[in-house]
Amino acid sequence: MRELKILAVVVFFTGALYWGVEPFAHSQLHKHVSTPEYTFSDVDGLKGMTGDATKGAELVTANCIACHAIEKAGFPPMMDDETSAASYGVVPPDLSTSGHLYNADYLAAFIKNPAKAAKVEHKFTDGAVHPMPNYDWMQPQEIADMVAYLQSIAPAAMTNKEVFVDACQRCHSIKYGDFRFDGTKSSMLSKTPDANIKAYMGTIPPDLSQYIRSRSVSYLHEFINEPGKHLEGTAMPRVGLTEDVENQVVTYMQEVGDSSKDEREALAGPFLGYLVIFAIFAWLWKAKIWREVH
Ligand code: HEC
Ligand code: HEC
Repeated sequence: MRELKILAVVVFFTGALYWGVEPFAHSQLHKHVSTPEYTFSDVDGLKGMTGDATKGAELVTANCIACHAIEKAGFPPMMDDETSAASYGVVPPDLSTSGHLYNADYLAAFIKNPAKAAKVEHKFTDGAVHPMPNYDWMQPQEIADMVAYLQSIAPAAMTNKEVFVDACQRCHSIKYGDFRFDGTKSSMLSKTPDANIKAYMGTIPPDLSQYIRSRSVSYLHEFINEPGKHLEGTAMPRVGLTEDVENQVVTYMQEVGDSSKDEREALAGPFLGYLVIFAIFAWLWKAKIWREVH
């Protein structure tokens, strides 16, 4: 009987800590932020307009390939990564997959005004301008045509790694993503040299190999979808990925940084079962010893 009372006291205080104090402390340390919004209803998007991919092809060829490669459409980069990083601060992404990666409204808004859509206007004050020009002088129909073109050339599906490469790797390394990593060479190092990205962003974007462990999955989604919610005034632009693509990015970060998570979690049930069975035996054993003592 005494043991049961002690158990009840322990359970009571543990419960009070776990359900009472911990959630409160957590809410103080990690402020609650709204869940990611994948329709990007706040941006100056397409407003329901549909585009003509053939017209879009001409417009993109005339306006974008000076900076962006579009390998899929036969436009290789105009310069090597070092030169373009030195010119723009960051290597502009190949646009072959943009139509798949980005939400269409976000993409339209980004083309019109990159700093505004990506919510980094606070970085471009006092005469500093975003390295990609605004195209808000074009007709809304022309913007829709370019989006339609980018969607028409984009692949229908991509691997988790391909998504990371095209959406994040121009700024971030994820060096554990490559088993050939030897301290200097890795195909998963950021495409932009440190010195250039530091000059552009004011800081070197962190290597993302272990962020799946140091941040929660929900934090990563909230952050990628809108970095400012968690880090006010941050240098990281908003990346307007579709929900599916963003899931792939986070899955890739898990494959690289925590590849045995599923295995580990699958062990939880059997392990708890083992503890219960073990506790029963321990109790029976204790009862036997005491019977012999008395
Ligand atoms: C003067 C060079 C330049 C031109 C011209 C240019 N861009 Fe860019 N673009 C950039 C740079 C630099 C970035 C990367 C900016 C960053 O990551 O902060 C970029 C980024 C992008 C992105 C990535 C968006 C994101 O959220 O990650 C898309 C899509 C894009 N540009 C589309 C276009 C299209 C479409 C055109 C033509 C209408 C175009 N760009 C013209 C330099 C340019
Ligand atoms: C144009 C450059 C750029 C791109 C593209 C970019 N990031 Fe970042 N990212 C940054 C910078 C700069 C920081 C550091 C922000 C700071 O310290 O304020 C950062 C920080 C982060 C962090 C750390 C947040 C924290 O809590 O400390 C994560 C996670 C992250 N980025 C994920 C991503 C993912 C995933 C992608 C691709 C979908 C991506 N980033 C694309 C520039 C970029």
